[in-house]
Amino acid sequence: MTTATALATAATDDAPVLEGHDLIKTYEVSRGIFGKPGIVRAVSGISLSLAPRKTLAVVGESGSGKSTLGRMLALIEPPTDGRLAIAGEDVTGVYGHRLKTLRRSVQMVFQNPYGSLNPRRTIRATLEEPLVVNTDLAADERHARALDMLARVGLRPEHAERYPHMFSGGQRQRIAIARALMLNPRIIVLDEPVSALDVSVRAQVLNLLADLQQEFGLAFVFVSHDLSVVRHIADDVMVMYLGGVVEQAPKEAIFADPRHPYTRALLSATPVADPGRPRDRIVLTGELPSPFAPPPGCSFNPRCPMAIDRCRAEKPLLHGEDGRLTACHLAD
Ligand SMILES: Nc1ncnc2c1ncn2[C@@H]1O[C@H](COP(=O)(O)OP(=O)(O)O)[C@@H](O)[C@H]1O
Ligand SMILES: [Mg+2]
Repeated sequence: MTTATALATAATDDAPVLEGHDLIKTYEVSRGIFGKPGIVRAVSGISLSLAPRKTLAVVGESGSGKSTLGRMLALIEPPTDGRLAIAGEDVTGVYGHRLKTLRRSVQMVFQNPYGSLNPRRTIRATLEEPLVVNTDLAADERHARALDMLARVGLRPEHAERYPHMFSGGQRQRIAIARALMLNPRIIVLDEPVSALDVSVRAQVLNLLADLQQEFGLAFVFVSHDLSVVRHIADDVMVMYLGGVVEQAPKEAIFADPRHPYTRALLSATPVADPGRPRDRIVLTGELPSPFAPPPGCSFNPRCPMAIDRCRAEKPLLHGEDGRLTACHLAD
């Protein structure tokens, strides 16, 4: 390699693998036979940038739009509006063979691996399937690769000929992770990957994910309704509320100095690492408003203990500096 190309490689090493700009996703849903169809804004204008080996955690209550964002980032559903780029290549409007190739670079792991593994297929067939569809590897090469990946997720070669029901929840999630890795993706979107697992198994799967991230240089988008789950694995945290981002910052800042009242409320609900340290608890009351009829002003204002008149009238924009962004009139 010449010096010039070495430099070029080094310079692009930390270039973002995933970028979203003002991503929007709306769904038209019918509301009964007499109701006019309504428009749900599941994701309303989200921007992000993710570098290799980094983890962006996306947190928020159920219904805040996390899975919808995840499906767009994983190229499962196209955005209604906005732009998405993978390794610098704009994905918007890409289709056919090129889209198929790009899709290989982003894989998704879901909360319930039992639902995503075919019960009638051996683990080996499940792991080999992406290779059958996307590569021209010979049968023995596919087999070798499946066994290798099983080992990397902590399972044994004899597991290959077994069926999903013969495994524990934690083992099934390991298998789902192995399948996601079969095509050498650069990005994995993990949607509540440990939420269905026993607490005792969670840490093991999280440690496995951290190891695989380093080994394969993966970028993670890690979706969770529970902030405490992302405490160790996240580099940056994006807090979503009703389809939008209310706060986005490096993990340390989110946990040590949360600025948005909603982030503080989510933190109040998680176990305290240092019980000796006093902190102002914000208890969340009420429910997430209907995405059909978001409240005027700040979408969090009906539940916010600090809301002032301005919060009910004017929507706060996400703003800040040095990667610390907040959408709150009172956070400055
Ligand atoms: N395919 C869909 N059709 C209609 N509405 C949807 C669809 N997917 C999600 N939604 C709505 O979008 C909002 C966000 O959902 P979702 O992304 O699943 O949130 P989360 O993963 O944070 O729980 C919810 O109000 C949900 O009902
Ligand atoms: Mg979800």
